[in-house]
Amino acid sequence: MPKAAKKQQAPSGPFGDMFPYRETFETFRELPKKSRPPEDVMRELRSIARREDVRWQTGQISGTYFHGGMEHFAYLNRVFALFSHVNLLHRDMCPSGTKFEGEIIAMTARMLGAALAREKDPQADVCGAITSGGTESVILPMLAYREKAKAERAISAPEMVVPETIHPAFSKGAHFFGIKLIRVPVGADYLADVDAMRRAIGPNTIAIAGSAANFPHGLIDPIEKLSDLALEAGVGLHVDSCFGGFILPWIAKLGYDVPPFDFRLPGVTSMSCDTHKWGYGL
Ligand SMILES: Cc1ncc(COP(=O)(O)O)c(C=O)c1O
Repeated sequence: MPKAAKKQQAPSGPFGDMFPYRETFETFRELPKKSRPPEDVMRELRSIARREDVRWQTGQISGTYFHGGMEHFAYLNRVFALFSHVNLLHRDMCPSGTKFEGEIIAMTARMLGAALAREKDPQADVCGAITSGGTESVILPMLAYREKAKAERAISAPEMVVPETIHPAFSKGAHFFGIKLIRVPVGADYLADVDAMRRAIGPNTIAIAGSAANFPHGLIDPIEKLSDLALEAGVGLHVDSCFGGFILPWIAKLGYDVPPFDFRLPGVTSMSCDTHKWGYGL
């Protein structure tokens, strides 16, 4: 058991809830002088994990946890146990990473209309990359649009036009890569106002974006119209499907009315789609 003397009071005020373990367990600020038996560490970790599981398992949490049940988590853990030590940098030693990554990208691209896009236009080849999460999947295309616009259109003050409901990841990307983000107010229906976005497009616009579905309200922007706008303006269109990418294609198969939002639309040039959300892949 941790020594009582090393336990601390949780800070008072609105952030007190963020540090509940300070009162229960020792807080380490340096490597302990003496090692602890692994079972001791495991007991502490189990207690923490159980406390957090109980909260979301009430079924009253929206978002945050994306799960196909504890049995599915147990299956994922069996997979992680086989590969957690693999160093993906060394693909010659660990070609499993190349196989798994390629297959996940191919399956995801197909799910998002890549095959249908290629039927219409043999040049329409969809490729991808696995990233650390939704934010990185949003900001990497921003970098690609910036570099493409610099090389092909000599744009040195790049701008992106987005609805104001777009995820904050776009603000991060804009800050990192020196892109001016023009956030256009949405309409009374909380959806991207395509005409207002058209008016915000200028000579420095490198790309526009929309969400399917968006982070604040779970609504799908009019991606078909944004696709037309992107073609008309000659700029890229990123569809942020971090949240909806692994749901929308399947609810369409169940017969629900889902407007086209993916690579089937000729103006869509990039998408983000989270395996760690409804892909249940963590
Ligand atoms: C629509 C949308 N875009 C981007 C993100 C960012 O994803 P992450 O939190 O994995 O960085 C989220 C996360 O909730 C999201 O819902």
